[in-house]
Amino acid sequence: MAGLTLSNVTKSFDGFDAVKDMSFDVKDGEFLAVLGPSGCGKTTLLRLVAGFERLTSGEIRIGGQTVSSTSGNVPPERRRVGIVFQNYALWPHMTVAENVGYSLKVAKVEKAARERKIADALALVNLKGFGDRRPANLSGGQRQRVALARCLVAAPSLVLFDEPLANLDVHLRASMEDEFAAFHKRTGTTIVYITHDQAEAMALADRIAVMDHGRLAQLAAPRQLYMEPANEMVASFISQGILLPARVLSAAESGRCRVEVLGQEVVVRCRPGERPRGNAKICCRASDIEAGGPSEPGFDALIKRAVYQGGKARIEFSPLANPELDLHFEQPDPNSFESGAEARMRLKSGWLISGE
Ligand SMILES: Nc1ncnc2c1ncn2[C@@H]1O[C@H](COP(=O)(O)OP(=O)(O)OP(=O)(O)O)[C@@H](O)[C@H]1O
Ligand SMILES: [Mg+2]
Repeated sequence: MAGLTLSNVTKSFDGFDAVKDMSFDVKDGEFLAVLGPSGCGKTTLLRLVAGFERLTSGEIRIGGQTVSSTSGNVPPERRRVGIVFQNYALWPHMTVAENVGYSLKVAKVEKAARERKIADALALVNLKGFGDRRPANLSGGQRQRVALARCLVAAPSLVLFDEPLANLDVHLRASMEDEFAAFHKRTGTTIVYITHDQAEAMALADRIAVMDHGRLAQLAAPRQLYMEPANEMVASFISQGILLPARVLSAAESGRCRVEVLGQEVVVRCRPGERPRGNAKICCRASDIEAGGPSEPGFDALIKRAVYQGGKARIEFSPLANPELDLHFEQPDPNSFESGAEARMRLKSGWLISGE
């Protein structure tokens, strides 16, 4: 097991920075998810850590040892890094055991030791007894577990996953998520796990790194990303936060300030110690909005649509004063809102993103 440190890592392709000035630490035994829109540099980052790409500037250390810098690169096979890709890349003509043991065979590990290591790796991924099967006779999830066993057999100090569940259906994804979580708990391996899927990242990771155009936008625990997004990109990317323009009225107490949003005064959360001023944005969630009484503080809105979602309805609306904003909240059964009607809405809370 080993931690991973990136210091000011940049990777340019013909002058285009696919990864730009990224610095972060992954602790020994930590599960870090890397999340971000397509093309933001996730795979490039992983290839840099694995040693398949040379960095343009900066430094990468694994377990305290410098493996990539402008002055030298440890080759991939000497980094003790295991990788699991989206397409499992198993050899179809080999059995499961042969696939898993291939690297040991190449390394001339003798047969008895090889067989023991293969059996151990298959047991770790819950595939005991599957050694004689061919990949074609396995389910997608089982194939992905063979790919994991193949990476584990070499006793990596760090395991990198690049969207390992992207090819699987929803049910299989959920059960593989459980397996990955159990695997991490059992082995304590340091993991860097790339995904598009934020529910997957939230379910699995100790911390999540959000990337945006090659840069690190925020690295934090899942709950903090959700509750306290660092900027507008993270706010709208994570669980589709609702961004609203706000004017800061006064600091209420540490970690709270009073703002005006959609003509309503509301106390929102902000960074402790921060004394925001002027124009800002707040990030709120559907759960921060509720229907208010006619004389209560709030704002008037036009109901656009009520979508029944089993036990609750998603009420989509726009503030009368800001018809360009599409907002929504959830109303438990029974729903009393109809499209075309006007209603009073109330913002209960939110998170202040930036003050001038
Ligand atoms: N070998 C290369 N040569 C030139 N440009 C590259 C190369 N590899 C990646 N890029 C560019 O770098 C950017 C980041 O690519 P990367 O594959 O890291 O994105 P990603 O976040 O993994 O995207 P996705 O979620 O779609 O897999 C993209 O604009 C891509 O076109
Ligand atoms: Mg990718």
